[in-house]
Amino acid sequence: MRNQIVVVGSSNIDLIAQLSHLPKPGETVGDAAFSQAHGGKGANQTVAAARAGAEVSFITSLGNDSFGQSMLQDFKRIGINTDYILQSKDTPTGTALIWVDTRGENSIAVAPGANHKLSPQYIDECRILLSGAELILLQLEIPFETVEYVIDLAASLGKKIMLNPAPARKLERKHLKPLFNLTVNETEAAMLSGMPVETQEQVVEAGRYLLAMGPEMVVITLGARGVFYLTKREQKMVEAYPVKPIDTTAAGDVFCGVLASQMVQNKKLADAIKYANAAAALSTTILGAQPSAPNQQQIKDFLDQYEF
Ligand code: RIB
Repeated sequence: MRNQIVVVGSSNIDLIAQLSHLPKPGETVGDAAFSQAHGGKGANQTVAAARAGAEVSFITSLGNDSFGQSMLQDFKRIGINTDYILQSKDTPTGTALIWVDTRGENSIAVAPGANHKLSPQYIDECRILLSGAELILLQLEIPFETVEYVIDLAASLGKKIMLNPAPARKLERKHLKPLFNLTVNETEAAMLSGMPVETQEQVVEAGRYLLAMGPEMVVITLGARGVFYLTKREQKMVEAYPVKPIDTTAAGDVFCGVLASQMVQNKKLADAIKYANAAAALSTTILGAQPSAPNQQQIKDFLDQYEF
């Protein structure tokens, strides 16, 4: 198996309540429909990249419980390399409690569980895998010291690093400088740049600021407003596809995973963004994180609807 992308990140079981509106503090909303799905930002991006045609290896930490077992089986069924997945004996698989309202908006609370066992020491045991990667994809849902360790190691190995700094937190220039690709949503763009990103001009300003911190390319996903991307040579605002969302959970993860898959297949940046934008839009029309990550045929069929 080729080793195009190595994802280092989280896995969660998502416990989902679809309800009329998101509960306010102290409120009980009694009309929820319950379901569960495999999630976690790292796992969602891994699955999205694999379904979009990339060879993907996943470094994550699962609990030795039924959720962990079923995730492991699912990763194998999708064709993901699971050789470096940890299974903790004494910590449960990460869990996310997700509320989704009728507009598809969500609120999420995460109990990290076994994700916290993904240590820098364990990354040392994965050095051979990381050395063979074309691109290393990271999020921020595992211990931050591990993220820093992977960035330093990947940079010393001369690897392309793609970072999706979610959930949002402040980062330093040293974290952004070695990046090949920084993909952020509005919240993350505002936090990292310290600038508002409400108007188009502000998005462009924030994007330029982040690019000046060192990444080769910056991508800002803006939900229904589309996607803005820039490099030293080009910059473009791309419109969102007009879909009616059921559940926006993991739309950003699908975007990142699919974009990574296109980068390792050496697609032109404009085409890669268009493809990832379509996959993310399509994902919002299906409930659940990993169930909503489309395959290549589904993305093609979706794009065909919009080609006139
Ligand atoms: O980005 C969506 C993901 O965030 C969910 O799948 C949930 O597990 C949380 O990690």
